Amino acid sequence: MTVFRQFADWLGRLLEPQPPARSLPQPAPDAGAAPVVPYQAPPAPAKPVRSRRAILHEVFDTGMPVANRAGLAGRANELERLLEAVLDHRKHGIIYGARGSGKTSLSRIFGDMADERGCLVLYNLASGDISFADLFRPYLHDIAAEPQSKVRRSEVEALLNEPFDARRLASLLADRVERRTILMLDEFDRVRSLETKAELAALMKLLSDMRSEVSIVTIGIAANLEDLIEGHPSLRRHLIAVPVGGLTPTDLDALLRRCLSRVELDITDDAAATIVSAAVGSPYHLRLFGLYAALQADIAGKSVIDGDIASRGLQVAFGEWRDVSRRNADLLLSQIDRPRAVALPAAIICLNAAMRSRIDRMEIIAELDEPNAAEQVDAMLATLSPILVESSTSGQYVFEDSLAPQFFLLLFTRRIAAGGTERGHGVGHDLRALLQDKGATQ
Ligand SMILES: Nc1ncnc2c1ncn2[C@@H]1O[C@H](COP(=O)(O)OP(=O)(O)OP(=O)(O)O)[C@@H](O)[C@H]1O
Ligand SMILES: [Mg+2]
Repeated sequence: MTVFRQFADWLGRLLEPQPPARSLPQPAPDAGAAPVVPYQAPPAPAKPVRSRRAILHEVFDTGMPVANRAGLAGRANELERLLEAVLDHRKHGIIYGARGSGKTSLSRIFGDMADERGCLVLYNLASGDISFADLFRPYLHDIAAEPQSKVRRSEVEALLNEPFDARRLASLLADRVERRTILMLDEFDRVRSLETKAELAALMKLLSDMRSEVSIVTIGIAANLEDLIEGHPSLRRHLIAVPVGGLTPTDLDALLRRCLSRVELDITDDAAATIVSAAVGSPYHLRLFGLYAALQADIAGKSVIDGDIASRGLQVAFGEWRDVSRRNADLLLSQIDRPRAVALPAAIICLNAAMRSRIDRMEIIAELDEPNAAEQVDAMLATLSPILVESSTSGQYVFEDSLAPQFFLLLFTRRIAAGGTERGHGVGHDLRALLQDKGATQ
């Protein structure tokens, strides 16, 4: 502890208001009676002191969706589109994007705004083999519990105890729900049952046809859009699809500085640019890399994050990711030293995975823009197949580990070194130009 800190603590204690001293009651005149001891409340338990590290983890928390509007960076356009389509035009919605892209955060803030406009907003989480009826029962409970609801308990009771299909549910919701109601269904991508997906699509269509007050907003991945419209192409007219892609460098920079100011850390412009470009659009990665830089500053006892500290933070973040995600890391590392023609398609695949919500084979081929681009891209997709998940739409993929693309790009552009020694095949410049085009670097 520094002398300054000791002095500040000591002074703090001196200036703290002390509780007024209690004087013991005078003994009662009757000397024989037991003295009355006044009740003294036990001392309030000391507030647990949170360590500086705990505060850093809390501020940069990558595990919690954004809880209030002030904390949401960017997304004004997405919010506006959702509000207009769902609230004004009574459409259903699908919010989709890569893991950690900020889907739940966006949907929460949208829900809050819809609530402020008088809607009843109800949330539920989907899971693997859930049936259609099980997915919707919790909403029915909540709708029936709503004070002004016209839905009678007995009507819900019937559905709680027996299976029901989309038609029966749609009739109940369309006939009995008079308040504008939005059912938000998060983690829709976890639903495996084709029957549940088909019933959900049918429910959306029926609710629209019956001009119901109920809209459904699902939150998932790109392939879920195809899942929904596959059996009901006309659903397109009743649905708004909002992709959650990368944030702009300006929004990421503002987010980084906002988090840092909460922990009283400053950052140089070049260090901020390093972290922002490393995140390649992802608020999740921005928070993660910001956290590692802040921890490094803490270890070094610095109040300003400079380029060195930022790079060290990235290196430590990479090391920790490699330890928990060996299979992904080893496969990507094995591509770094390969010839340019092999490594560049991998970088473009990673760039797409990071910036957009999916990898699209045709887009990658167009971006590579070389005579034998299709062969190169197909060869790399085959190489990476153990760590890619193919979508139900052919030619589209996502990484099973959403951290992988950003780390590959960091290695590729030599922002970090694999295994301590700097490697890389010298084509970082090509990618930097590409990144520049896409606004991912400053
Ligand atoms: N627009 C944003 N502004 C600031 N932070 C954000 C934003 N979007 C997401 N985050 C942060 O990124 C992390 C991931 O966000 P969130 O949980 O919303 O993503 P998700 O797409 O729902 O993830 P998953 O696919 O795992 O469900 C969280 O720490 C969240 O606070
Ligand atoms: Mg989520």
